[in-house]
Amino acid sequence: MKVDDIMDVALRRGFIFPASEIYGGVSGFWEYGHLGTKLRQNWENAWRRHFLGLDPNYHEITTTNIMPKGVFEGSGHLENFNDPLTSCTKCNQRFRADDLVQEATGRSVEDLTPLELSEAIRAEGITCPKCKGELGEVNLFNMMFQVNIGAAGGLTGYLRPETAQGSFVSFKRMFEVLRNKLPMGLAIVGRVYRNEISPRQGFFRLREFNQAELQIFFDPDAFEEHPDFETVRDTVLRVKQFGSDDIVSLTCGELVESRGIGKFYVYHMARVQEFYLTTLRIPPELFRFRELGGKEKAFYNKVHWDVEVYMETLGGFKEVGGIHYRTDHDLGGHEKASKQRLQVNIDGKKFVPHVLELSFGVDRNFWALMDVFYEQEGERTVFHFPPALAPVTVAVFPLLNKPELIAAAEALYTRLSPHFSADYDRGGSIGRRYRRHDEVGTPYCLTVDFDTVEKGTVTLRDRDSMAQEAVALDTVAATLIARLCP
Ligand code: GLY
Repeated sequence: MKVDDIMDVALRRGFIFPASEIYGGVSGFWEYGHLGTKLRQNWENAWRRHFLGLDPNYHEITTTNIMPKGVFEGSGHLENFNDPLTSCTKCNQRFRADDLVQEATGRSVEDLTPLELSEAIRAEGITCPKCKGELGEVNLFNMMFQVNIGAAGGLTGYLRPETAQGSFVSFKRMFEVLRNKLPMGLAIVGRVYRNEISPRQGFFRLREFNQAELQIFFDPDAFEEHPDFETVRDTVLRVKQFGSDDIVSLTCGELVESRGIGKFYVYHMARVQEFYLTTLRIPPELFRFRELGGKEKAFYNKVHWDVEVYMETLGGFKEVGGIHYRTDHDLGGHEKASKQRLQVNIDGKKFVPHVLELSFGVDRNFWALMDVFYEQEGERTVFHFPPALAPVTVAVFPLLNKPELIAAAEALYTRLSPHFSADYDRGGSIGRRYRRHDEVGTPYCLTVDFDTVEKGTVTLRDRDSMAQEAVALDTVAATLIARLCP
């Protein structure tokens, strides 16, 4: 199974492993090893470059993981951030009721109420997956982790379930700091926490994870327009619309005209797709947007399309992000709960800005890279990561354990390592060293041989084509840069 093969490399080579492993681990919690950390950071930095580059008034901020209860009263999470829970009346094991019903019926049941889920459990004769006992009534379970703040424990806080709230509670100050201009984007890349009932999908549904989210605050009267819309009007998007099973190709212009979705929204769909197809190099047939409707939509959204990537290890298209038109849901809620005015005054026009959220699950995107770029080619295991995302960009090897080759290889490594993610490897045959680096996705290997000493060249080997070429030592850095930024 591909999932076992990828997990084998991930554990053996230091991409990811279960958290607190020596104590047996807890499901839904994972650690990143040294290579996983690099791959995740490279994804995050690519995300920053792409999305913060969309507008000079988009900026990254850093906000706290623990927030007081009032924030989640204002945002609506205390009331609405729930999953349907059922417990076995015999062994007391708890399950997500919608997962059980979906598995039994093969239907998406995201819009069923707890009562309807209870009825479906009875109608389908679903029993406890562990002991076959009878399942109890479905209730709603709030997924936030509660914490006591301070020694007396008098103040209740929660670990944030999304980074987004940091941007909303910082809006007032950042709007002033950034000189009262819209659109204004506030991005946060950081940890979030959800007390998932039964995180059964290995690395994919986690209790502590990372998000990269950009909240774009804008004048709601500008939703129908975007100044750069013409640049994406003919861009073809792959979309699965609500109520349809088909993935169709529609241009941005067609989506605006046929569905009446604001150009501001559709422009950002194009830029999200560009990130996936161009920066991450996801093959187009493995990418789509899926529209959510009815109760499937998150409670704060008016328009909601998920960003999905097809993952063989998970058996289909899976959500890796979302484009959420949150309207003034959050700022309006925080105005009421905090009793602070969050309305703006631009040229005499007073209004509460609306928000378009571009939201991404970093760990899910990490897993998508592991899934999409994994290849078993005969004896060779390779991750064909886009070169700029690979944990190690370049590995330097001396061909043989000869002092002059080791000295030249070490000198080359020392020259490259401040500028590239570089590795130095002198263990085993050259073939074995290539295989070790293929297995972690290193796009370029440089072998120092006698020509290096005599003629000043090294052998550059390309991971994907396996082609080898001689490159002059003094042009190695420029050659690598040209390949990383084509
Ligand atoms: N901020 C949106 C989400 O967490 O899905």
